[in-house]
Amino acid sequence: MNPTELIGPPSPLGYPAPYWFLVTFKVLGFTLHMGPMHLWFAGTLLAMILARWGSTEAQRWSARLLKQMSVIIALGVNFGIVPLLFTQVAYYRVFYPATILMAWPWFLIIILLTFAYYGVYIYVTGLKDNAELTLFKRVAGWISAILFLAIGFLFSNGFSLMTNLDAWPQIWQSTSVAGAPLGTALNLADPTLWPRWLMMFGLALTTVAAYTVFDAGVFARRESAGYRRWAGSFALKLYTIGLIWFAVMGLWYVFGTWSTDVRDQMFASPLILLTVLTALGPGVPWLLILFQRRQITQTLAIVTGLAQFGVLGLNAISRQFVQNIELSKFVDVTAEPVNLQLSPLVVFLILFVAGLGVVAWMLEKVLRAERQPSTG
Ligand code: HEM
Repeated sequence: MNPTELIGPPSPLGYPAPYWFLVTFKVLGFTLHMGPMHLWFAGTLLAMILARWGSTEAQRWSARLLKQMSVIIALGVNFGIVPLLFTQVAYYRVFYPATILMAWPWFLIIILLTFAYYGVYIYVTGLKDNAELTLFKRVAGWISAILFLAIGFLFSNGFSLMTNLDAWPQIWQSTSVAGAPLGTALNLADPTLWPRWLMMFGLALTTVAAYTVFDAGVFARRESAGYRRWAGSFALKLYTIGLIWFAVMGLWYVFGTWSTDVRDQMFASPLILLTVLTALGPGVPWLLILFQRRQITQTLAIVTGLAQFGVLGLNAISRQFVQNIELSKFVDVTAEPVNLQLSPLVVFLILFVAGLGVVAWMLEKVLRAERQPSTG
């Protein structure tokens, strides 16, 4: 069977905006999603480990991160909606068949996320002054950490299956009854799956490290100078581990699983420049953190955060090129007719900018609160 028979039919409505617009917001939205997502993907597990086995300063770090986590999750989930919408608009012909094949695991994400979110809240009630971290609260925290890993794994399944069209006929046949898909598939036989998920975890460790510096330099006004010094050296170690992890998994992903098509294009001019920048990018925040290992300054902490945002942006752009090359064998997502829908587009832009404005306003409030002298 030809996999193209399972691709969704083109919509007679066409794209509501030019492809460049859709893909720009898909990539920007994913970059914005990745920052907070990394903090819960790798950060929750690390925070639980350090809360249990870390030094006093490490426990302080863990409590700081987890106390902020509910807001971080709210931000990251909302930012995730942006690339999801643009994926559904521009990649619907492959996104929907893939997520129908794995409908139940895909749907499960909402349920797992609800439990993970509650778990964080329950754990954090044990961090309040005079509260006790009971066994129940600690178990809730560990369950959240594991659920975030599992949800990340399901996302990696979904987005790798979306471009693994060669495997669709076999997956469909083995998980359907009388032609009707049961929706129970995963993309486990795809060699890109594991390095992709693990590579994202390595990158997530680097984001947690960069955020540690950002938090210590910008938000942690009431913490001791000792904590801020500790944060600098901890961030350097963590970034280094994340970098090595990311590099090893990246090598496995690129040289062990990329098709010749993808490799030929990503290693040829002009995309080679992007590939090299994506690989070397994490070196910039690493150097900035190295510089601050003994003393974190507010300005450099902000620059570190921005540099990490740039690293995530480069990853999102590279990944978009790879996605398009993988799909180009079957469908040209850039070739759909455009039937411009101006009013929803304008409303989207206004709400997007207003949403970012609200986030900036919230951050400003947090900063102001942190600058007030402690009342407790
Ligand atoms: C309901 C909330 C969420 C939404 C709407 C959402 C949305 C998305 C979207 C659209 C992408 C792909 C972006 C692209 O390829 O352009 C993505 C990727 C990803 N998300 Fe989320 N996300 C959510 C929650 C989470 C959670 C809780 C995790 C847990 C760790 C997570 C982990 C990931 C990972 C690891 C990827 C990369 C998958 C890969 O391509 O290998 N997301 N998310």
